[in-house]
Amino acid sequence: MNLDQALQEISAAPSLEALHTLKVQYLGKNGLVTQEMKTLGKLSPEERKEKGRALNEIKEKLTAALAAREAAIKEQSLQEQLEREALDVSLPGYAFPSGGLHLISQIQKELLDIFRTMGHSVVEGPEVESEFFNFDGVNMPEWHPARDMQDTFWLQPPEGFTIQGPFGESVNDLGSALLRTHTSPMQVRYMVQHTPPFKIVVPGRVFRYEQTDASHEAMFFQLEGLVVGEGITMADLKGAITELARGLFGAEGRVRFQPTFFPFVEPGAQFAMWWPERQKWLELGGAGMVHPNVFKAVDDYREKLGLPRAYEGVSGWAFGFGLERLALLRYGIPDIRYFYQQNRLSFLRQFRN
Ligand code: DAH
Repeated sequence: MNLDQALQEISAAPSLEALHTLKVQYLGKNGLVTQEMKTLGKLSPEERKEKGRALNEIKEKLTAALAAREAAIKEQSLQEQLEREALDVSLPGYAFPSGGLHLISQIQKELLDIFRTMGHSVVEGPEVESEFFNFDGVNMPEWHPARDMQDTFWLQPPEGFTIQGPFGESVNDLGSALLRTHTSPMQVRYMVQHTPPFKIVVPGRVFRYEQTDASHEAMFFQLEGLVVGEGITMADLKGAITELARGLFGAEGRVRFQPTFFPFVEPGAQFAMWWPERQKWLELGGAGMVHPNVFKAVDDYREKLGLPRAYEGVSGWAFGFGLERLALLRYGIPDIRYFYQQNRLSFLRQFRN
């Protein structure tokens, strides 16, 4: 065997596997050096000594060369790995597009915050509602002309579907199913379940079977307010709505009440808010003192469930208004269809929070 050639092969070995093959080839059990060693026994003592030393030297050189090459290969592959997996922490990160709250969600949140600071609890109710809570319970019996103002999506629930009352009881026998046309049915549901005094606000989606145009949508959001207790008056209502105006428009916020009719209140009013920035009134919604017939419907329902009547001798106020209308007026948005139908991000992003 040729030592120089062997050393060259070792230093040129491209991989650990190739190196291992060379090691076996020279130093393995049947390797070239090993075989030479085995021939020593046949030599004279003189020759054996000399050849033995020479073979040992060769073996050491090969061993050293194998070890050096192994270290070099390992070092190189480590370097390559480090380069491959290098992470430059100084590179700018990826910009992940982040979502935002829809303008109407932002307004709802703002309104709820204002009422929370006044001590109102926030409660929500079902969108699939019973005719009873949506109409009869809020003093709108079938023959009542006010029902015409609320074009209704009537539903035909599948066999076995129950609309549940405040305690989970079926109210299927109290009227047809519908998509609630306002958030007012939650007044009845909440009062059946609770006893005064309390203050609540109810945000939620409502539905009207209407032709869509610049100021009408078949689905929109309302906020309902209800405060019931002993000695609650119209002055409390005006105070709360004034607080709302100040919360929305700052210290200069003011409100205007004008008498009007809603079946669930007496007296009833429509209210507007003074918008200091634009020096004009925003006609917003309805309000008033809870009609005795609403309290009566609640107590009758409670009695039916075996609960004591709880609304004799109390009074309360209520309001309700649409969130989209507030948004349209406040931001000068010309068309309600921008909110849901077109859903154009370029429009919605203007109100990114
Ligand atoms: N429910 C009425 C509607 O949808 C709004 C409303 C008016 C609610 C007067 C009230 C109220 O609570 O007192 O048009």
